[in-house]
Parts: sequence; C-alpha cells; structure tokens
Amino acid sequence: MVNLGDEFPNFEAETTVGKISFHDWLGDSWGILFSHPSDFTPVCTTELSRVAKLVPQFEERNVKPIALSCNSISSHLQWIDDIKSYGGLSIKNFPYPIIADESRDLAVLLGMLDPVEKDSDGLPLTCRSVFIIDSAKKLRLSILYPATTGRNFNEILRVIDSLLLTDKHKVATPVDWEKGGDCMVLPHIKSEEAKELFPKGFSSVIVPSGKAYIRITPQP
Ligand code: BEZ
Repeated sequence: MVNLGDEFPNFEAETTVGKISFHDWLGDSWGILFSHPSDFTPVCTTELSRVAKLVPQFEERNVKPIALSCNSISSHLQWIDDIKSYGGLSIKNFPYPIIADESRDLAVLLGMLDPVEKDSDGLPLTCRSVFIIDSAKKLRLSILYPATTGRNFNEILRVIDSLLLTDKHKVATPVDWEKGGDCMVLPHIKSEEAKELFPKGFSSVIVPSGKAYIRITPQP
C-alpha cells in the first residue's frame, strides 16, 4: 500500500514497449499509472482508447500514461488493434505502454486486486486503480473504481491541473473547479500575507459563523 506523499515503488516490468524500470521510464515527467481488469473487455476498451486520444493533453502537462493488466504481452498487442479500431485511431504505434503483470506481483504490491472480479481461471482481476506520480516520484493521487464503472479521464486531467497549480501557488481549488476558475486562499495563510501573495486581490464570503475562512481569489 502506497500512501499519498510516499515514494512510488521503482518496479521493473514487461510492457508492450519492452522491459522498463519505472523510475527511469518516468525520467523527469509525471506519470499516470492506471490498471484495468482484463484485456478484451468492453469498458476497458473504451478507456484505453480514450487515453490514447488524450495523450497530447497529458504531454502538454508533462505526464506520461502507462496502463496495467495481468494479461500477457501478446494478448495486449492483439487487443491494441481492437482499441485502435474502436477509437478510430489511425496510428501505427500505440502512444503509451501497457504493462503485462501476468504474475500479479505488481498488482499485489500496489493493492490493485479486485476482491470480487475473477478471471476464467478464478484468479482475481485488477480493479480500475489510478495513480498519479509526480516528477519527484511521489504518489500524489490514488483512486479506486469498481470494474463496472469506467473512469472519467477529463476528471483526471482536471486533478493534474489542480496539482500543478497548487504546487506553485498557495491556493486550493474548490468543488468542480476547472482551469482558469477562481481558487481558494489556503486556510493557514494570514490575510496580511494573502494581500501580498495575491495582487489580484481576494474576497471573503460572509458566513453565519462570522469566520472569514472562505477566501476567493482569481486563479494566479
Ligand atoms: C469491462 O471492462 O467491461 C469489465 C471488466 C470486468 C468486469 C466488468 C466489466
């Protein structure tokens, strides 16, 4: 189990682009590692195709995607043709690697195994985990979805935008925030300091408690 802020394990893995050592593969980039229950399943096919289309948006943010399931490389490679066909992707090379964790060692290490879903041999499938790892190799976000619910990768990009912004500025992003939207001054910042930090100003929302803790500022 890796907690937020922990260094993400530096594992070695067989992937559709050859063997990788995870930290070397990341280099100076951020990474999104996402697992899926199995190759040749409908929801997973929609997800991997969506991520392939979003690769330029991940690249813009200096984030490298990598997928994982417990199937073999040959299965992944055959499935990639279906993913490309489903998504109408006219590309020769699939734009991100898929890890083949046939031994399930990585899935166990990273707490990815689904307690309910089993493959045809009765072995546990991986659930839909999402890990976002920063350029210092620290885990910054972890979400677990059930097999029956496909992920929303727009939300993942939104979180990355929030992480990149809040790493740089002393703000937090409110509910349903989107890039460019108003932000919250961090609670521990004193108003005197906030005046210096946020030249565009900030306003406090008046609430019954009389406490000025909801302070809104334009996105720095
Ligand atoms: C799917 O990807 O469609 C799926 C995989 C396992 C269980 C349910 C759905």
